[in-house]
Amino acid sequence: MLLATRGLGKRYARGRVAVDALQDVGVDIEEGAFVTVTGPSGSGKTTLLLTLAGLLRPSAGEIHFRGEPVQELSDAAWAAFRRKHLGFVMQNFSLVPYLTALENVMLPMTLAGTPSAEREPRARVLLDRVELGDRMEHLPRELSAGQQQRVAIARALANNPALILADEPTGNLDPALADDVLALLKKLNEEDGTAILMVTHSPRAAEVGTARIHLEAGRIVSGNGTA
Ligand SMILES: Nc1ncnc2c1ncn2[C@@H]1O[C@H](COP(=O)(O)OP(=O)(O)OP(=O)(O)O)[C@@H](O)[C@H]1O
Ligand SMILES: [Mg+2]
Repeated sequence: MLLATRGLGKRYARGRVAVDALQDVGVDIEEGAFVTVTGPSGSGKTTLLLTLAGLLRPSAGEIHFRGEPVQELSDAAWAAFRRKHLGFVMQNFSLVPYLTALENVMLPMTLAGTPSAEREPRARVLLDRVELGDRMEHLPRELSAGQQQRVAIARALANNPALILADEPTGNLDPALADDVLALLKKLNEEDGTAILMVTHSPRAAEVGTARIHLEAGRIVSGNGTA
């Protein structure tokens, strides 16, 4: 098993209001799986993704990566873990605005300490794979929304992650561009065996995956991530 949780809970405390955003969540994500997460607004989808990435600390439960417990890692160890094993694709692309497509894709390699001579050739290969070989020197604002999201996907692949965490990656795209991005994710999942956990509002997008998780009010109501 690539990533598993048991009894995962997350409580946000805001003054006197406590929100149980996740309760008793158990997921199993196999190596190479493509798991989609659906649920109404506020059901805890983003909270689940951020907790699995160590960007939020769980209030209860366990997270295991390849059999090893990771929830007690220090912040620094989590950061190193994310650089090594995880890639992120978000709804708003979150590219660095003053870096070119090529530089955006090289950035995670720099942070991970990839030797400088390897960074640019690898970034070029990744941008070719997302069919942006002719846009490498463009800034994000000089690219269409669909192209920006493809740069973000190339960037997510920079350190050859075991798992890509995607939060509404097609949420800001027109239907045709959304289909392109979904097809690209599917292709990368199948060709590289990179596991994907994708949050989506779209029932159509949810069908791209090989397994599904449905959340309501912080609890899993169907699926656990295995097919
Ligand atoms: N930082 C926070 N502090 C307090 N409460 C929060 C915080 N972030 C989220 N919540 C609450 O936790 C619950 C789950 O939020 P979350 O963002 O995970 O939902 P979601 O399923 O991603 O929704 P959406 O589809 O709208 O993105 C919501 O009730 C929300 O109000
Ligand atoms: Mg969300």
